[in-house]
Parts: sequence; C-alpha cells; structure tokens
Amino acid sequence: MSDSAVRQAYDRQAQDYDRRWSRYLRQTLTFLRSWAEILESAAVLDVGCGTGEFEWLLLHEQPNQRIVGVDLSEEMLRVARAKCGSFPNVSFIGASASHLPFPAQHFDTIVSASALHYFAEPNRCLSEMHRVLRRGGSLTILDWCKDYLLCRVYDAAFKLAQPAYKSSYTEREFCRMLASAGFQVKVSKKTSLTLVGGIMIATAIA
Ligand SMILES: C[S@@+](CC[C@H](N)C(=O)[O-])C[C@H]1O[C@@H](n2cnc3c(N)ncnc32)[C@H](O)[C@@H]1O
Repeated sequence: MSDSAVRQAYDRQAQDYDRRWSRYLRQTLTFLRSWAEILESAAVLDVGCGTGEFEWLLLHEQPNQRIVGVDLSEEMLRVARAKCGSFPNVSFIGASASHLPFPAQHFDTIVSASALHYFAEPNRCLSEMHRVLRRGGSLTILDWCKDYLLCRVYDAAFKLAQPAYKSSYTEREFCRMLASAGFQVKVSKKTSLTLVGGIMIATAIA
C-alpha cells in the first residue's frame, strides 16, 4: 500500500480503463455531477482524476470551466490529456493527494471519485484538500461504502491481494475523517449500486 503501487497498477490499466469500467463510471460520475454544485465560475480541483472522465462530463456542459485534475499515474493522465486537451481551461498534473502542489485556498470546489480507498495516508490527503480549498468552499467525495456487504468482501480480499489498495470506510468513519481534517460535513448519503454493493458521497465545507 503505497503511492508507487498505485502508480504501477493504474499505469498498467490506463489504456483499457474507460472501456472496462464504462458502466461503473457512467453511474458514479453522473451521480457525482448531479450531487456536486459546480458553478461555471468556480476553480475546481479533481483529486485522483484518472483518465479525465469527470472532466469530460463537466466540460461538455460547461466548456470554459477552470478545472485541474491531479493523479499519481502518468499513463492515466496521458489518456485524460488526449481526451480533454481541446478545452481551454483544463489541465492535468502528476501529483499525490498527500502533497498537493498548490498554494493555500487556491480552489473554490474540490471533487474526488473512487480514489479515497487508495490513499495511503487518507487523513493527510483530506487535510491537504482542506488546505488548498478556500474557506467556505466545498469538497464532494464519492467512494465505495463499507456499510455494504459486497464492499466488505472486496475490502478483505483487496487488502490481501492488491498492494495498491488501502481501505474502504463506513459512512460514519468517512464523516469523522472529514471532520478531523477541519471540514464541516453538510450532507452525506450512501446508496446501493447493486443489491449488495454501494457507494457513499459527502459534501463538506472548508
Ligand atoms: C478508480 S480510479 C478513479 C479515477 C477517476 N476519479 C474516475 O472516477 O474514473 C482511482 C484513481 O486514483 C488515483 N490515485 C490513487 N491514489 C492517489 C493519490 N494518493 N494521489 C493521487 N491520485 C491517486 C489512481 O492513480 C487512479 O487513477
């Protein structure tokens, strides 16, 4: 469980990622899009942006959006840049969520989808998000939810078999982590994607 294990795992699957996960991406990212209120004037950061699927979705609605995606995997970022490069105000940067290369209070809005369970230092990553978000700005994170059976099974199996995987969390643990990083949780929700598996989402204010 380290940044280099995550980088290697995602460098390997970057070319195939969009096709392989298309149904999951459609479900999770349209949900995140409808949940996060993103003003067209906002400066947005996407932490663990992967192949830029969220940027693609958002920029088709709001083409002038200022948005920066950060990710550990250069291969995932390569796909993202090829996909979204024609939009004027999008950029993709190779960086870890535990050391975000931005000054304090640089962004109005932060989003992150399906990346929290990889963060080797989740509390540090959330503190970094708090640091770079302007006071009053909003963070919306979507991730697997350990309140669901399938997620608990995956959690146990991935901890044994996948060096890149860190942990998933229950909704309550997730909200506590947000509060310890200095956020005020505005609203959180868990929802099932299948009968036994599900995701959670929370919006919190810096
Ligand atoms: C399951 S993918 C999700 C990608 C994208 N958010 C989406 O919904 O398609 C997880 C991504 O998080 C990135 N990631 C994991 N840990 C990270 C960290 N500490 N800092 C930056 N990116 C990270 C991985 O490289 C990978 O691209």
